[in-house]
Amino acid sequence: MHMLLKSLGSLLVGRKIALRLALATFVLSGTVYAAPDQVTNIFKPLSTPAESVYQAALLTMAVCAVIFLIVGGLLAYTTIRFRRRAADDGLEPPQIYGSNQIELAWTVLPVLVVFVLILVTSRTIADVQNKPAAADSLKVTVVGHQWWWEIRYPDLGIVTANEIHVPVSGAAKPRQTFLRLESADVAHSFWVPRLAGKTDLIPNRANMMWIEPKQVGTYLGNCAEYCGTQHARMLLRVIVHEPDDFARWAAAQQQNGAEDPQVKAGRDVFFSTSCVNCHTISGTSARGRFGPDLTHLMSRDTLASGAAPNTPEKLRAWVRDPQTIKDGSLMPNMQLTEQELDQLVSYLLTLK
Ligand code: CUA
Repeated sequence: MHMLLKSLGSLLVGRKIALRLALATFVLSGTVYAAPDQVTNIFKPLSTPAESVYQAALLTMAVCAVIFLIVGGLLAYTTIRFRRRAADDGLEPPQIYGSNQIELAWTVLPVLVVFVLILVTSRTIADVQNKPAAADSLKVTVVGHQWWWEIRYPDLGIVTANEIHVPVSGAAKPRQTFLRLESADVAHSFWVPRLAGKTDLIPNRANMMWIEPKQVGTYLGNCAEYCGTQHARMLLRVIVHEPDDFARWAAAQQQNGAEDPQVKAGRDVFFSTSCVNCHTISGTSARGRFGPDLTHLMSRDTLASGAAPNTPEKLRAWVRDPQTIKDGSLMPNMQLTEQELDQLVSYLLTLK
């Protein structure tokens, strides 16, 4: 089946055309701050569920292309072959009505085609949905918020935001990551095109999905279900590591928030304002869950779920007035003085 799909695909679509089509139509313009090789593309799957979806899509497109060619070809042929000519006698052609054979053919054939597509699609869905979690698979809980992603590793005791770090799945030793998808407020949808299809995050319900990335790198994704003002800036990245690098990342994330006496003034600003009501810094009294965990804030690439790169300047602008970077963001302007801002940012910068 796999080979058949592949040869059908290359025969009918052609790699170059597929690539151009992909670039023209499916490049996600919402994924800002991405290197060119990070441009996401549903035609370049790099994880088992995304590959299954891609193959089912390829078969569907191939079948549709054949039908299009037959119908379009016949239409073009009749239009040209039987067009009005100068020597026409102006009389109506013979009127023919009813043919059991032809009517039977154009009823039975489409039914068969649809039946084949239903079977292939339901098999793909079942293969992806019914996959049992292996004992060594990584378990991650993803909670959708307006408008950011809370990422929890229950077995590792790690909490982070907007970036999911996972180990690569080797050819010799496949390793899946199972995602438990929840929502803190409204419906969101988890979509990293090169890793898997979309799965919704729905309040009061847990959905499961899994990924099996086969190549180290950064994979971009975004929320794929309209969830309010900043739905478009609810970006997401999956960072795939070699197993050793992943272990190092996990060990670093398990540490408590840094305690640097040099930034005591900034720390005092943080703990004397309502920052602590919404954010957690592990090892401290800040235990808020409404906003992202800040314990290792500076280990992340972006701020505000991909709305800005995580640089000291942007961080300062973000804390000064979040609305200038993400209009509608639920983080309030704390009305800090310029001095307090400098102190606070110098503290946040130590949270690596
Ligand atoms: Cu979250 Cu759209």
